Amino acid sequence: MAERVIPLVDHRTAPLPTPRTSSPAPAGTLLDARGRPLRDLRISVTDRCNFRCSYCMPKEIFDNAYEYLPHSALLSFEEITRLARLFVAHGVHKLRLTGGEPLLRKGIETLIGQLAALRTPAGDKPDITLTTNASLLARKARSLREAGLDRVTVSLDGLDDAVFRRMNDVDFPVADVLAGIEAAQHAGLSPVKVNMVVKRGTNDSQILPMARHFRGTGVVLRFIEYMDVGATNGWRMDEVLPSADVIRLLQTEFPLVPLGATAEGETAERWGYAGPDGRHDPTLGEVGVISSVTQAFCGDCNRARLSMDGKLFLCLFAGQGYDLRALMRGDGRGGVPDADIEAAIAAIWQGRTDHYSELRASLPADAAQGMRRVEMSYIGG
Ligand code: GTP
Ligand code: 5AD
Ligand code: SF4
Ligand code: SF4
Repeated sequence: MAERVIPLVDHRTAPLPTPRTSSPAPAGTLLDARGRPLRDLRISVTDRCNFRCSYCMPKEIFDNAYEYLPHSALLSFEEITRLARLFVAHGVHKLRLTGGEPLLRKGIETLIGQLAALRTPAGDKPDITLTTNASLLARKARSLREAGLDRVTVSLDGLDDAVFRRMNDVDFPVADVLAGIEAAQHAGLSPVKVNMVVKRGTNDSQILPMARHFRGTGVVLRFIEYMDVGATNGWRMDEVLPSADVIRLLQTEFPLVPLGATAEGETAERWGYAGPDGRHDPTLGEVGVISSVTQAFCGDCNRARLSMDGKLFLCLFAGQGYDLRALMRGDGRGGVPDADIEAAIAAIWQGRTDHYSELRASLPADAAQGMRRVEMSYIGG
């Protein structure tokens, strides 16, 4: 195997200056410099995880010596809710809790309860969802639902126990994840989605078994192209299995028909399982493919990301974020009022031009690889 050079750079510490503007935030939906609205806020609540998936938190980097953020650096639930309220006032209608592993954050149900009390300008509850490895889900599904969580997305990279243990790299058994998925369905956290990151030569043997297992269960399985996110996973293009190949493989066993998008800016391309008449049979359900490498979807990307220490990132592949925590805490000198934070968020979003996945295709490989990027475990999926 070719030797991999894994750069060890910590980009967590150098925030971009947060704009201080005297003009108030415009009312209603914010559009960025490419005309994209702000709709989806992903909130990372911890940088820790009990798994060591090689594409996300490789063991060699995230070892005992790795310095996670201290608790004092993390936004409190009140700070997260304050920011979420300001984002919701400006058009965000989906809040996703991520990590690391969000269920490792103590008292996460309390945060969910606070977020569930927010209302959009139209008076609706925002959609509240969470991405988890499901290691703690069987135990927590009911209390999460009772707190106000609408649905969950579970990361699961294979059905074969040996393959899955190798993927999570901490010897975690697949049966416990499957029990978590069932508990989530029973608790009404539906539709449960399952995300499988496909690495060619590592877990592509699991595509058909995963489809067979989840077809007709109500679970929406999505296959994700392995991405060059972060700087530690040693990404190589030859380990990406294009989504077109995944669909072709699935079609050898299950006839599929393309389905339309359900929401603007959706990441997944949806395919429905066809019945004997060749039409989509809703009882068999659907699968999705997320093709950020071979078919970038930056054109209508409406997602912002908030790290656990309060930095706002405008792209999954950004190198730096804007320090909203400093605005809120004022670095010990007292924070600023809501109106100033709103104005800063508006100015940041209105200046947004990010479209990394589209650029990747046109950049020479070494230029793309050399760009500064934060880790996905820091800003969340
Ligand atoms: P729902 O369908 O509403 O549940 O949300 P979603 O489709 O945004 O799904 P999810 O958050 O589960 O994202 C699925 C995966 O898509 C993530 O884990 C990433 O691998 C990838 N992804 C999500 N958002 C982006 C994005 O903005 N850019 C890129 N390049 N990839 C993304
Ligand atoms: N490529 C694609 N998806 C990734 N995720 C993390 N790292 C990567 C990567 N390199 C996503 C997966 C996982 C979620 C937590 O983050 O979807 O399920
Ligand atoms: Fe943990 Fe999810 Fe990253 Fe795997 S992909 S290491 S489960 S945060
Ligand atoms: Fe959005 Fe950046 Fe992903 Fe493009 S690469 S879809 S701009 S997060």
